[in-house]
Amino acid sequence: MIAGDWPTALAPMQDVTSLPFMQVVGRRGSPDFFFTEFIRVHAHSRIDPDILSSIYDKPDGRPVFAQLIGENLDELLRVAKELKSLPVAGVDLNLGCPAPRVYKKNVGGGLLRDPEKIREILEVLAEAEPSLLSVKMRIGFEDDRFFESILGIIAESEVGLVSVHARTVKGGYQSEPSYLHVAKAVGILPCPVLLNGSVDTPHDALRLREETGVHGIMIGRSAIRNPWIFRQIRELQAGLQIFRPKMGDLHGYVEDLYRSLDKPNIEETRLVARMKKFLNYIGLSVDCEGSFLYAMRRAKTRSELFTICHEYMTKPEIVDENFSLEPFDGLTRPKVKKCLGGSS
Ligand SMILES: Cc1cc2nc3c(=O)[nH]c(=O)nc-3n(C[C@H](O)[C@H](O)[C@H](O)COP(=O)(O)O)c2cc1C
Repeated sequence: MIAGDWPTALAPMQDVTSLPFMQVVGRRGSPDFFFTEFIRVHAHSRIDPDILSSIYDKPDGRPVFAQLIGENLDELLRVAKELKSLPVAGVDLNLGCPAPRVYKKNVGGGLLRDPEKIREILEVLAEAEPSLLSVKMRIGFEDDRFFESILGIIAESEVGLVSVHARTVKGGYQSEPSYLHVAKAVGILPCPVLLNGSVDTPHDALRLREETGVHGIMIGRSAIRNPWIFRQIRELQAGLQIFRPKMGDLHGYVEDLYRSLDKPNIEETRLVARMKKFLNYIGLSVDCEGSFLYAMRRAKTRSELFTICHEYMTKPEIVDENFSLEPFDGLTRPKVKKCLGGSS
């Protein structure tokens, strides 16, 4: 494995970044850090066993940050202390989840309307003395009116790492990212900043790092579509030719994902439905007309699904074609629905 000169991270994604997916990505070139799906913090909340396994069985032995979402100070302190006895690289506070059900309770992205509450939460989390306190934030709720004051609060706190998703909460997942805000965060914060939001290709990662001066790059959806992206970034950093997966490699990834997500008691139809969540992203690079997406969304069984994958990935005339680094233009991006039962 080539050492990168600046770090990459796999963005936390509810229902995606469980241990099996982290391991599938790890087998294709790990990022430098992982983040767990969020741990919902409220009275009597417990850390989900699946999240615990992603903490204990760190893919590739890489550091894993445990992400918390909540606003109750006593409960946040309790869970942060609990995490101290676990092998986490640090505790990350979610200041970005845009699901109305979440922000209406003033947690996740909702906290971006209340800078003083953020200050209180950061003070309390620091009391738990985590190995590293980190924050993953958007640039504001509906606009950036509190962005600088929140950065000021973070700068005065014990926070040692900030990931900035370059959109507002209201901007969801498809609005134009504002990387200028990320550059502003770099100028104001004394700690390292990771840039996040629509980094589609390894070349984007290098360019955006150069343009904004961030410490590193965090990638979410494009790592589902292209799990080799962290390896490719490392290769670009080293001035090497990047690995170009073929459609046959893509098929291998899909098979690995299916095997990894399989559990003893999961019904085939449920597993196929879960696979489609991943394939909705993967399909953005399979064919420019979106025919693969159309076909795979209709599959109900494993056999139907893999017949379609064979058709688009391993037929003799396709298997050795390069898999596109970029998503094709004009294909509808998947809607992000899941986050505490609402949209994330
Ligand atoms: C399916 C899905 C689930 C997500 N869940 C979380 C989460 O649990 N915590 C979080 O901070 N962000 C979550 N996000 C946001 C991502 O971490 C990331 O900030 C966002 O997708 C933008 O980065 P990208 O363009 O590289 O995907 C989620 C995103 C997606 C697509």
